Amino acid sequence: MIATEKMINEPAPATWDVARIREEFPVLGQTVNGRPLVYLDNAASSQVPRVVIERGSRYLQEEHSNIHRGVHYLSQHATTAYEAAREKIKRFINAPDVKECIFVRGTTEGINLVAQSYGRKFIGEGDEILVSQMEHHSNILPWQMIAEEKGAVTRMIPMNERGELIIDEYENMLNERTKMVAVAHVSNSLGTVNPIKEMTATAHKFGVPVCVDAAQSVPHFPVDVQDLDCDFFVFSGHKMFGPTGSGVVYGKRKWLDAMPPYQTGGGMIRTVSFEGSTFAPIPEKFEAGTPAIAAGIGLGAAVDYINSIDFEAAAAYEHELLDYATERLAAIPGVRIIGTAAKKASVLSFTVENVHPHDIGTIVDQSGIAVRAGHHCAQPVMQFFDVPATARASFAFYNTREEVDKLADAVQKVIEVFA
Ligand SMILES: Cc1ncc(COP(=O)(O)O)c(C=O)c1O
Repeated sequence: MIATEKMINEPAPATWDVARIREEFPVLGQTVNGRPLVYLDNAASSQVPRVVIERGSRYLQEEHSNIHRGVHYLSQHATTAYEAAREKIKRFINAPDVKECIFVRGTTEGINLVAQSYGRKFIGEGDEILVSQMEHHSNILPWQMIAEEKGAVTRMIPMNERGELIIDEYENMLNERTKMVAVAHVSNSLGTVNPIKEMTATAHKFGVPVCVDAAQSVPHFPVDVQDLDCDFFVFSGHKMFGPTGSGVVYGKRKWLDAMPPYQTGGGMIRTVSFEGSTFAPIPEKFEAGTPAIAAGIGLGAAVDYINSIDFEAAAAYEHELLDYATERLAAIPGVRIIGTAAKKASVLSFTVENVHPHDIGTIVDQSGIAVRAGHHCAQPVMQFFDVPATARASFAFYNTREEVDKLADAVQKVIEVFA
């Protein structure tokens, strides 16, 4: 190819300086069982950069106070910091309105909020809720509960042998009784990236809203709720380099305004009397009681952190790492990769012939390698692939090819131990 002037003038493509990035995560510098920690359990919880730790600690040391209530300096200061975090989240997911961003303690609480509140108002006898086969239990059980309460049913959107949703079947399942589609953006047990934008467009043809479990997407690539056009988008702070106890429900105003409160109590009312009470507008309507203030402010700092790096470059780097890890593990005789979708992010689930995944987890831990072993709160996925559990390595942009090599060597050792 002949280089044009524009190409010559373009900056070189950004490279990912993983060594520099790792320095920002204090946890990664330690040894475990005498070996440098290899942290590959990011789908369960990601690590926290120094700036987020420092922001949380500064809040506790200098700013702690209850929010939205006091007229004194500290309360106003804390309120400003908390609401600034909400504004950061709005921009991070490109929500149209900051009031559509509700703070919760995590994805689990968020989906329960949507299921209970939306369900109480909009789901009735004989209605159907479509839930994908690859969901985390957090995006199955809240829908089963509300379906049971209302005399509705949950129907499973099936997947194929690669762990991809069968979109033709999904489209055939939608009908006038469908009241919700609940689907993960990225599967925590398989890594599959689902075609949310297309699935949402199809659901909307039937007037059906879509609730996206985004717990495993927001840490791995940029998201845009307006582009996806989904109705609800729920995620946890602790999987996106923020603190535990933080999370968000984004919901379109048209739904949130019409939905009843999920929990009631202080901070979410307009008037209270024994004759009857009225509620504050969104987001307060869904935020009863004192929230996790430090966690919310910390989540804002995590968003700042993600904005401070080249997130697109991070996603591309991480994707290469996943491909490399898949190649290395698939080449080991006796290893079976569970989840081979064309579009994947972060997650590599696998089994080793004649070895229980818990034994894999325990043995690789002796080499300082943290992976997850179990059903990953996705028992229907385990049933589909006819395995009791899998071992799961899940990557973040601070992991390295050397760490992948260590994992491959440790898995090889597992096989030797059980030979
Ligand atoms: C896809 C998915 N949904 C929901 C959850 C639940 O998140 P949390 O435990 O933060 O509420 C998880 C956690 O692993 C997850 O991976």
